[in-house]
Amino acid sequence: MKTLILYQSKCGSTKAYAEDIAKATGADVYPLKGFRLKKMKDYDTIVFGGWVQGGSIQGLDKFLSEYESIKDKNVLIFSTGMAFPTSDGRSLLIEQNLLDMYHIRFYMLQGSFDIKKLRPLERILIQRSLTNLVNDPANVNQKESLEKLSSEPLVVYDHQGIDKIVRVINTLSLTVEVNVKDKA
Ligand SMILES: Cc1cc2nc3c(=O)[nH]c(=O)nc-3n(C[C@H](O)[C@H](O)[C@H](O)COP(=O)(O)O)c2cc1C
Repeated sequence: MKTLILYQSKCGSTKAYAEDIAKATGADVYPLKGFRLKKMKDYDTIVFGGWVQGGSIQGLDKFLSEYESIKDKNVLIFSTGMAFPTSDGRSLLIEQNLLDMYHIRFYMLQGSFDIKKLRPLERILIQRSLTNLVNDPANVNQKESLEKLSSEPLVVYDHQGIDKIVRVINTLSLTVEVNVKDKA
């Protein structure tokens, strides 16, 4: 079974996650930018990971523009954001990114964040995102840690999220292999 991982990353967390998933599953991994989406037809399982900006998963629209050609395959999507993954936060991302219109599996991961690495305009944008996240009832238990992000970097590696995605991909591979053997 062939697995493809595409990603869009700004500061490196999503790229690192995509590469780690690829290493653990034997998948091919490429940045979304520059990848010819028509080539997705050569794979059985396709994973897309994008970083979150203002609630929107970056690169997702482009990736889903070719959804019709992969709708019969296994499609997994993960987002990387500074918010700690919760079921409310996940539901909000599904809603904001219209993910329930597609037959996909979705995983919300937490990635690193350092406001000091951003350009002045990006800092203004991030302040807006932070205010929205802090005021969102879905994040009531993370209010304090989110507020700290205006001044302190967040360095995280979402082992739980990555392990889960790797497990699912490996289970899907087994299912495909069993189906192929059954047909032989
Ligand atoms: C301008 C800007 C807006 C952001 N907005 C959000 C957001 O709405 N929700 C969130 O969880 N994280 C948000 N983040 C944090 C990033 O998604 C997070 O740092 C992620 O790890 C970046 O992934 P990358 O390292 O692959 O670029 C934002 C970051 C920037 C720079």
